[in-house]
Amino acid sequence: MGKQSIKAVIPAAGLGTRFLPATKAMPKEMLPVVDKPAIQYVVEEAASAGIDDILVIIGRNKNMISNHFDSVPELEVKLTEKGDMQRLERVMKSSDLADIHYLRQGEPKGLGHAVLRAKTHVGDSSFVVMLGDDLIDDRDELITTMMAEHERTGATVVALMEVDPSQIHMYGAAAVEATDQDGIVRVTGLVEKPAQEDAPSNLAIIGRYVLPPAVFPILERTEPGKGGEIQLTDALQELAADSDGPGVVGVIFRGRRYDTGDRVDYIKAIVQLATDRDDLGADLRPWLKEFSAGL
Ligand code: UTP
Repeated sequence: MGKQSIKAVIPAAGLGTRFLPATKAMPKEMLPVVDKPAIQYVVEEAASAGIDDILVIIGRNKNMISNHFDSVPELEVKLTEKGDMQRLERVMKSSDLADIHYLRQGEPKGLGHAVLRAKTHVGDSSFVVMLGDDLIDDRDELITTMMAEHERTGATVVALMEVDPSQIHMYGAAAVEATDQDGIVRVTGLVEKPAQEDAPSNLAIIGRYVLPPAVFPILERTEPGKGGEIQLTDALQELAADSDGPGVVGVIFRGRRYDTGDRVDYIKAIVQLATDRDDLGADLRPWLKEFSAGL
């Protein structure tokens, strides 16, 4: 993928209450998934889509994330002295992925509020939002299709995934109309965390967005919604309802996604990614078979 001028914003300032006490002193985006923190997978996804300017919105414990993406000269010297070039390469990779900037959210007032903090950095351009605890398998493609769709139509683009109807209350849900393109829908309405009986569909918004700068003035006047938080979904609903604008389009994702902010999904992500790895899979797979046979 060629270099993109579009910037990415990674909100990573949530409280991570579902992971307490692990997230008492550590952002959930730093929880290791096999041997890399979750947020590194997201930064790698942005980098491989050609995005080289990333703004991370951080909360308390801000230093952990920025330290991770900084170089650690003493560690690099030690590994060089030991001749451990493989680990050296992996350690250096995290500080060499993109130009990463950091901004504090201040108070965790919701995802919409975190995105609004990016206004000055992003300026008058469209930008990508990638949630730091939501992983898209690097063998599956999503963000480049979304960017291309935005380029083509000027629309706000959200990623949608079919979920079991009993799960929709945990997501933003989309009312959609088909388009003439397979896997691309027009979004006519959005509702944050609806009860199953009120959900317009079982299409859930997942953590990738391409947003126009027009979202900022809307976020500025968006009142706290579900959970007392300023919801990005509420601002997107306004963009979807604006019949004069380019509207909101959904790209339906049918690949592998891991929501590492959820404990069961986090464990599944580790098992799935580790069993697929060349260096770990051969040891893990037979054990896993034996273990599951005994369940
Ligand atoms: P979540 O709702 O999954 O995060 O937010 P949370 O509030 O940390 O999770 P729990 O429910 O307490 O466990 C989705 C994304 O938005 C970010 C989070 O870091 C996550 O990437 N976020 C959320 C912020 O950056 N700021 C906020 O105020 C809220």
